Amino acid sequence: MRKVLKSDKRPLEIKPQQESVWICMCGLSKNQPFCDGSHKTTRDEEDGKTYEYDAEGHRHEL
Ligand code: FES
Repeated sequence: MRKVLKSDKRPLEIKPQQESVWICMCGLSKNQPFCDGSHKTTRDEEDGKTYEYDAEGHRHEL
């Protein structure tokens, strides 16, 4: 689990697409709301722990 800050106050409409659109659910993408592959850095997070990532992408356990 990780602590993620969201600042938008409204939803983002995603219109129907010809191809799949992948929405970031890990909170680390630099191309929000879309996945940019940054979730790969969460693979070794331990269950039951909470992490925070700084602006440089460094992980800190809370
Ligand atoms: S799910 Fe967040 S970058 Fe892929």
